[in-house]
Amino acid sequence: MKRTMAIMSRAMFVMFILSLSVRCFGQEDLDMAPMEKAEQEALYSTIQGFVGDSWNGSDLYPDPCGWTPIQGVSCDLFNGFWYVTGLNIGPVHDNSLSCTQDLQFRPELFKLQHLKSLSFFSCFQSQNRFLATIPTGNWEKLAGSLESLEFRSNQGLIGKIPLSFGLLKNLQSLVLLENGVTGEIPSSIGNLMKLKKLVLAANYLTGRIPDVFGGLNELLIFDLSSNSLSGSLPLTLGRLTSVLKIDVSNNHLEGNLPNEFANLKNLTLMDLRNNRFTGGLISSLQEMPSLEELVLSNNPLGGDIRVLKWENLKNLAILELSNMGLTGEIPESISELKRLRFLGLSNNNLTGNLSPKLETLPCLNALYLSGNNLVGEVNFSKEFLGKLGRRFGAWNNPHLCHPVGVISTNHVPYGVKPCLNEDNLLESNSKTELLDGDMNQTFHFIASMGFSSCATNGFWWTFMEKILMMGLFLILI
Ligand SMILES: *[C@@H]1O[C@H](CO)[C@@H](O)[C@H](O)[C@H]1NC(C)=O
Ligand SMILES: *[C@@H]1O[C@H](CO)[C@@H](O)[C@H](O)[C@H]1NC(C)=O
Ligand SMILES: *[C@@H]1O[C@H](CO)[C@@H](O)[C@H](O)[C@H]1NC(C)=O
Ligand SMILES: *[C@@H]1O[C@H](CO)[C@@H](O)[C@H](O)[C@H]1NC(C)=O
Ligand SMILES: *[C@@H]1O[C@H](CO)[C@@H](O)[C@H](O)[C@H]1NC(C)=O
Repeated sequence: MKRTMAIMSRAMFVMFILSLSVRCFGQEDLDMAPMEKAEQEALYSTIQGFVGDSWNGSDLYPDPCGWTPIQGVSCDLFNGFWYVTGLNIGPVHDNSLSCTQDLQFRPELFKLQHLKSLSFFSCFQSQNRFLATIPTGNWEKLAGSLESLEFRSNQGLIGKIPLSFGLLKNLQSLVLLENGVTGEIPSSIGNLMKLKKLVLAANYLTGRIPDVFGGLNELLIFDLSSNSLSGSLPLTLGRLTSVLKIDVSNNHLEGNLPNEFANLKNLTLMDLRNNRFTGGLISSLQEMPSLEELVLSNNPLGGDIRVLKWENLKNLAILELSNMGLTGEIPESISELKRLRFLGLSNNNLTGNLSPKLETLPCLNALYLSGNNLVGEVNFSKEFLGKLGRRFGAWNNPHLCHPVGVISTNHVPYGVKPCLNEDNLLESNSKTELLDGDMNQTFHFIASMGFSSCATNGFWWTFMEKILMMGLFLILI
C-alpha cells in the first residue's frame, strides 16, 4: 500500500512537471513578442522601399521579432519591447531580401530608434534608369544608436557622401566599398571619434584627403584605396597611433611620405602603391616595428635604397618596392628580415652584385629583381633556385649572369644568360623581355597566398588550420 502511494505520488509529480512545461510552450506559441506598432510599421515600410511594393510585411511576417523572423533583420529587447537593431539588405543568403530596381530610402528608416547596424550589399545595381543616392538628411535621428553603416558593391549607388554622416557619433564602422560614390570626402567624417574602421575604397572619390582624421584615437583600419584622390597625405595621419592598416593605394596622391609615420608603432600594413609619391624613402619607415607588409611600388619615389635600416623591420613578410626609381645596391640588411616571404625590387635602377646572403632568408618564396642594372654572378644554390622556380625573376639585368655548370639546366634563372664571354651576354639579352607583364599577377598571387611556411601566426596559417580541422571533421563523420 505504502509502495503504491509512493509510485502514484511520483507519477503525479511527473505529470505536474509535464503540464508546466506544456503550458510554457503553449504560451510561447500564442504570444507575439511585444513590439510597438509604430516600430513594426516603420520596419515594414522601410523594407518595402528597398524590395518593392509587392512585398507585404504584415501578411508574410506578422511577428518580425518573434516567430516569423525576416532574414537580415535582427531585434533586441528594450524595456520589455522588441526593436529592430540590425537591417541587412541584399543577397547575402538564399532567402535574403533582395532589392527592387527602383528602390527608395523611405523616411521610416530613420524611425528605427534602436538601429545599430545597417548594411546594403549588391543592392543598388547599375541600370542607367535606376541610380540612387544616399539621402542627405535625417541621419542625426540614428546618431544615438547606429554603430555600423556599410554599403558594399552597389554600382548604382551614386552621388556624394552625405555631410550628415558626421553626426553619427556612435559609428564604429563606416564602409563604402565598391560603389559609384563621387565627390570629396566630407570633413565631418573626422568627427566620428569612435570609428575603428573607415573604408571608402573603390569609389570615384576626388579631391584631397581632408586633414581631419588625427583625432580618431581608436581607428584600426584606414582604407581609401582605388579612388581618384590627389594632393599629399595629411601629416596628422601620423597621430593615428592605434591604426593597424593604412591603404591609400591606386590614387593620384603625391608629395613626400610623412615623417610622422614614425609614430605608427602598431601599423602592420602600409599600401601606397600606384600613386605619385616622391622624395625618396624616409627614415620614419624604419620606425614602424610592427610592419608586416610594406607596398610602395609604382611611385616615382626615387633615391637610394640603402638609406633605411631595413633590419629594424623585423616583422616584414612582404616588401614590394618595384618601379620606384630606386638606386644603389641591394642592402645586406635585407637578408636579416627573417620573416620575409616576398621581395619585389623589379624595374628600379639598382646596381652592384646580388648578394648570395638573400638565400639565407628561410621564408623567402618570391624574389623579383628584373629590370635593374645588377652585375656579376647569380651565386644562389640550386636548392634555392629550385624552391623559387618561376618566382625568381632577374631578367633584364644586362650584366647579370649565372655560373656555367654549377646550376643544372632546369634551375637556370629565366632570362639570365650564362657567364661566358661578352658576345654571349649581348646575344641572350635580346630575348629576355617577354615576361614583364607577369609581375602583377605574381605579386597578387604571392601576396594573397602567403606561402607562410614559417609565419605561423598569419591569416594563412589560420586558414590552413581550418582546412585541416574540416578534413578531420569529415573523417570523423
Ligand atoms: C498587406 O496585406 C494586408 C492583409 O491582406 C492588407 O490589409 C494590406 O493592405 C496589405 N498591405 C499592403 C501595403 O499591400
Ligand atoms: C598597440 O598594440 C598593443 C598590443 O596589441 C596594445 O596594447 C596597444 O594599446 C596598442 N597601441 C595603441 C596606441 O592602440
Ligand atoms: C635609371 O637607369 C636608366 C637606364 O639605365 C637611366 O636612363 C636613368 O637616368 C636612371 N635613372 C636614375 C634616377 O638614375
Ligand atoms: C660568386 O662566386 C664567385 C666564385 O666563387 C665569386 O668570385 C664572386 O665574387 C661571387 N659573387 C657574389 C656576388 O658573391
Ligand atoms: C597591374 O595592376 C594594375 C592595377 O591593379 C593594372 O592597372 C595594370 O594594368 C597591371 N599591369 C599589368 C602589367 O598587368
